[in-house]
Amino acid sequence: MRETEQKAARAYREQFGEEPALVASAPGRVNLIGEHTDYNGGFVLPCAIDRRIAVAVGAGEGALYSADFDQTRQIDEKDSSWADYPRGVAWAMGEAGHEIGGFRAAFAGDVPLGSGLSSSAAIEAATALALDAFFGLGVGRTDLAIICQRAENDYVGVGSGIMDQYASLLCEAGAALLVDCRSLEAESVPLDLQAASLALVVCDTRVERGLADTGYNDRRATCERAARMLGVEELRDATEGDLDLLSGAELKRARHVVSENARVLEAVEALRDWDFEEFGRLMYASHASLRDDYEVSTLELDTFVKAAEQHGARGARLTGAGFGGCAIALVPQDETAAFTNACEQAFAKSEFEEPAFYEFVPAAGAELAD
Ligand code: GLA
Repeated sequence: MRETEQKAARAYREQFGEEPALVASAPGRVNLIGEHTDYNGGFVLPCAIDRRIAVAVGAGEGALYSADFDQTRQIDEKDSSWADYPRGVAWAMGEAGHEIGGFRAAFAGDVPLGSGLSSSAAIEAATALALDAFFGLGVGRTDLAIICQRAENDYVGVGSGIMDQYASLLCEAGAALLVDCRSLEAESVPLDLQAASLALVVCDTRVERGLADTGYNDRRATCERAARMLGVEELRDATEGDLDLLSGAELKRARHVVSENARVLEAVEALRDWDFEEFGRLMYASHASLRDDYEVSTLELDTFVKAAEQHGARGARLTGAGFGGCAIALVPQDETAAFTNACEQAFAKSEFEEPAFYEFVPAAGAELAD
């Protein structure tokens, strides 16, 4: 058992005085490329990270305990806390016609919270997989991801796309996951960073994603408007030529989506050709498009990407929704210390909050613990 899984099992034992029936865990994610494309029916390429949220489950009357917050909540309330995610999953399972009986659960994790690494998808995915096994439902992973997205959209009330839940449930160790967010087909793309002597460095700018909700919903609405103006179902269907028919915000948002979808497919080709120069170039181009056309970057994220360009990163870009949160860079393995130092200095010079750095390798998706 992983450490987080052991911690959840221990918390269950301490709270409820017996062994849990089973333990499951699910990872957070970073998105390598393909940003703000999922809700436009496009392509994304995330990978899971080796930070997870674990849940220990057994029969009971609906107590939910978090070891990290040392809080107990009940399943049948709603209070805008961490507990709304497992509540939402149980609710969405019922909505999807699956019989859920009584259960109780203890949670523990090490995904940094609220910084754009999808701690919410991790707790949803872990809960979904655990409940599926505990109640013997036999729901496939794709459908579990859809249930988790429903929980987030309609119970918690955040209008996210499908990427985070898909990544948490379907990613494989040592690989990125290409998802076609229209057909919901997903395919693992091998990504052996070790063999390429590269490290995936994540920079948490520590800027709260305060505008994330309003900005995110606003971007979604503009994309939908642009699609209507072009007479297509989703911006996935728009071509470069169509862009001539748009102007203003609709043009800029649509130009990002159209070019970003193309970049994802080119990035997958680059990975298959072991061409990390090209992959990195596409990452930088993605960031520029998110900064200039989609307008979801911040001074901190731009400072990181600029420092990355100056200090030998193959590629760098903001990851996730933007408006703060995290950025990533592909850095030669033996240069990561010098690289993070240089970034820290750039932040200090601009008098930004001191950033936090992580190094991840593409990790496994949700799993039941042995
Ligand atoms: C957030 C959402 C995802 C996706 C990204 C932007 O992470 O949860 O569904 O839309 O923003 O790519």
